[in-house]
Amino acid sequence: MSHSTHEPAPQSKAATNTAQEPEIEYDQEKIDQAGREAEKQEDFFDDHEFNKDLSDQVGVADRRHTLHDGNTIPPIGLGTARMDNGVAEGVVYEALTAGFRLIDTAANYQNESGVGRALKDSLLPREDLFVTTKLPGRDHGTDSVRRSLEGSLQRLQLEKVDLYLIHWPNPQRGLYVESFRTMLELREEGLIGSVGVSNFTPEMVDELIAKVGEAPAVNQVELQPQFQQEALRAHHHGHRVLVEAWAPLGHDSKVINHEWIQEIAADQGRTPAQVILRWHIQNGVVPIPKTSKPGRMAENLDVFGWELSAEQMHRIKLLHTGLSASGLDPWEHEEL
Ligand SMILES: NC(=O)c1ccc[n+]([C@@H]2O[C@H](COP(=O)([O-])OP(=O)(O)OC[C@H]3O[C@@H](n4cnc5c(N)ncnc54)[C@H](OP(=O)(O)O)[C@@H]3O)[C@@H](O)[C@H]2O)c1
Repeated sequence: MSHSTHEPAPQSKAATNTAQEPEIEYDQEKIDQAGREAEKQEDFFDDHEFNKDLSDQVGVADRRHTLHDGNTIPPIGLGTARMDNGVAEGVVYEALTAGFRLIDTAANYQNESGVGRALKDSLLPREDLFVTTKLPGRDHGTDSVRRSLEGSLQRLQLEKVDLYLIHWPNPQRGLYVESFRTMLELREEGLIGSVGVSNFTPEMVDELIAKVGEAPAVNQVELQPQFQQEALRAHHHGHRVLVEAWAPLGHDSKVINHEWIQEIAADQGRTPAQVILRWHIQNGVVPIPKTSKPGRMAENLDVFGWELSAEQMHRIKLLHTGLSASGLDPWEHEEL
């Protein structure tokens, strides 16, 4: 069990045994097996509602998915983990200038003040911005949720956060159901736009639906070509829970360098990062790549107006190995 107060830096499971960043090993048998299983499934994601409103003809700032609660969310966002307030202020300002409208932070990133200053300095209308922050593990429970949210809002200089997520379920503490219920009450008071979760399993989402009577609007989970979360996506599609991908580029797992990704990028005249981000978008998933480089911000946003072919999508599907790059198991991991 790991304890942390910051976003844990994802590490390969294999990295726990070696000092070096490990090369990902491609187990051909596993890849073929994943491909056979994928073939058997219906294609859940071809005609789902989340992509319907997305037109490739409009500017990125105008594109939005509609959530089950009626609110709308941009189709791509900027991640801000592991940036301090000073860095986050500059990076978020650059990202808003580049065209990002969804900014993903968390109380545990300890950068909400910097994010808030950048939002203010951007002079963008509030309704154009979509700000996500997250409830830390130490603040689960009816009494603490309100205090925690008020602290986040104060640091962000906002009256309402567009999406508030339970950062990790911390199942050993057993407080996520009551935390979720309290968050829905705070939504009724106007302090939250949409209520969601992060790192929840389908079983945990089912428990929320059974006990509280409403599904989270969003579940933000680790998701990238080698860890595709097919079963979770199928489950969430059925309940209209939008899936957001954290570490959408695989963090530093090197999937971005995989020869198939490189080949598809060359065939498309795009970069490997764009191929992976476009794969998320065609799956109806909202990726939140982190970059602090303005050039890469423009690159990461330039994933509309062109398409991966069905064959290219299928090829990426076959990259699934089932190995999480972070090695963090929602049933085990306890976040403070
Ligand atoms: N809910 C959770 O529990 C949880 C957990 C982890 C992360 N997150 C969220 O997810 C966000 C993203 O995850 P992440 O930062 O771990 O991984 P990521 O977005 O998959 O990868 C980030 C890495 O990719 C590089 N990169 C970005 N754009 C690139 C491009 N176009 N070409 C090549 N490299 C590129 C970045 O480097 P440069 O910065 O140098 O460009 C950085 O090293 C976080 O910031 C956070 O907001 C949430």
